[in-house]
Amino acid sequence: MCGIVGYTGMQQAATVLLEGLKRLEYRGYDSAGVAVIKDSGIDMRKVSGRISKLCEETNNGEALPGCVGIGHTRWATHGAPTDMNAHPHKSNDGRFAVVHNGIIENYQSLRDELIGKGYLFESETDTEVIVHLLEMYYTGDLKKTVLRVSSRLQGSYALGVICTDYPHEIVAVREASPLIIGIGVGENFFASDITALVPYTRNVIYLEDGEFARITPDEIQVFDLLGKIVKKEVRRVTWDVQAAERGGYEHFMLKEIMEQPHAVEATIHPRIQNGEIKLDDERMDAGFLNNINRIVITACGSAFYAGCAGRYAIESLCKVPVITELASELRYSEPMIDEHTLVIVLSQSGETADTIAAIKECKSKNASILAIVNVVGSTVAKLADFILYTWAGPEIAVATTKGYTTQLVLLYLFALYTARVTQRIDDKTYRKLLRAIKTLPRRIQESIDMNPTIASCAEKYKDARSIFFIGRNTDQAAALEGALKMKEISYIHAEAYAAGELKHGTIALIEEHQPVIALCCNEKVWGKTMNNIIEVKSRGGDVLAVTTKKNGMISSVADDILYIPETETLFTGLVEIVPLQLLAYYTAKNRNCDIDKPKNLAKSVTVE
Ligand code: F6R
Repeated sequence: MCGIVGYTGMQQAATVLLEGLKRLEYRGYDSAGVAVIKDSGIDMRKVSGRISKLCEETNNGEALPGCVGIGHTRWATHGAPTDMNAHPHKSNDGRFAVVHNGIIENYQSLRDELIGKGYLFESETDTEVIVHLLEMYYTGDLKKTVLRVSSRLQGSYALGVICTDYPHEIVAVREASPLIIGIGVGENFFASDITALVPYTRNVIYLEDGEFARITPDEIQVFDLLGKIVKKEVRRVTWDVQAAERGGYEHFMLKEIMEQPHAVEATIHPRIQNGEIKLDDERMDAGFLNNINRIVITACGSAFYAGCAGRYAIESLCKVPVITELASELRYSEPMIDEHTLVIVLSQSGETADTIAAIKECKSKNASILAIVNVVGSTVAKLADFILYTWAGPEIAVATTKGYTTQLVLLYLFALYTARVTQRIDDKTYRKLLRAIKTLPRRIQESIDMNPTIASCAEKYKDARSIFFIGRNTDQAAALEGALKMKEISYIHAEAYAAGELKHGTIALIEEHQPVIALCCNEKVWGKTMNNIIEVKSRGGDVLAVTTKKNGMISSVADDILYIPETETLFTGLVEIVPLQLLAYYTAKNRNCDIDKPKNLAKSVTVE
């Protein structure tokens, strides 16, 4: 949801900024721009379209000489993705340029006020008010001006500011949008996320909400919004450059699918010691867990579907009622939540606006928050009472894959751990399920090994207009995620249905050659789903079934079959999702879609 980057040092700023923007492009990619300070003022280039176009138009930044600058890649909110609406925005007097990630909620009243005072607007964006406010309040003191302007803004913003009177300085401001400062030698940076910084430095400072930084090549000063200096800890990032690069794969999505055995292993391994599960926070003990009488799982998109899939394991093993609620709904509902509720929040980025708002709502009702999150130090992690990090490494493709599977495996671990410490499971079952969890990375690898079969299966879907995904129980949760993967990257309409619900209306849409993907991996219910397959077949539908070899009856009902490796019924969701990810991937590839950057989407949804 927009990426911003800033540089001050000895290098050609525009070239560094463009490199950073390429790595942030997954956050938004409908237009882009850079601005640098040069002797005579601020030089700026903006284009609608991809960063590659901006690179062409600036000769990879060579055309914009200067050692201090800011850059932006946009996911449009206010105003179409045009050159004019692209960031940076410049003040009328040419002294300031600004890049912004977030939304200024009171922009309309500020815009009216500034127009009344004679400021000329060039764009339709909310952001442009910021740069005119900087000009209006400027007294010659940049710090005071930034403080004054920030006090007028409502909403979420990560800002990068340059000012010609401060030719070596960049200013970064954070309020409810991520912002990280990178510390180099004789050069410093800021960016919306670490991926843009890792080629240059692994030493970073995370800004908190309500903080801003003045950054020169040799110094970084962080202040709160009262102007008081804040002492910040320098953190060392463990991700390396390779982790944030494609490494020979055609797409990040494929690379990330292939990384899943390793990511799931890295997430499980440190948490199993001498046959016992150790969750990272000792406060999550029997006393705490026995006091919980309800669990609410909340998240957005795929993270929500991981929650839907994990819910079955928690209910079945922990015997606690579990409610799954979309974060965007929960934040405006009146959830039945109190101090005996544990809210489990799932988020890859840790910066999803609705998820953050849902946490705040639940905290206000005294619930405890357990965050399952991938990005260390993210807002979700900071707000939570307990954190379980998914050790998936950076996820760059917009469509999540390893983010989803590592979240789901942590839900399994949490379920089994809770059942064990609260003595709701017998020793034999505990050991059997723990063994099954330990083998999941291998099972995922076996699913990945079906890659060539899945690729040829995908040929069938190239020209489909619509695909149904059906299943029951854990299979239904996988259907939700499978359908989302298909629609977001292939642009084929895909709908997930609880198999038993088909006949309550939707079966009216089944006609000759309608593709239906039937998930029959859960042994407890596959017999029932197979009845639904027969109903689909008798109306002419084409069925691809995903199941295990144990299901001897499937070949008599389905047209095509993908056999996944067997695992414990409770955990099949983790294994069956892999062929669905690959199916979506190859279908999108056959349709020449832009797999890593699907249209209209962005990786980190930091606006509501
Ligand atoms: C879909 C996808 C999204 C995210 C959702 C939540 O492939 O990636 O649906 O799952 O936007 O994002 P996070 O997990 O960052 O909170």
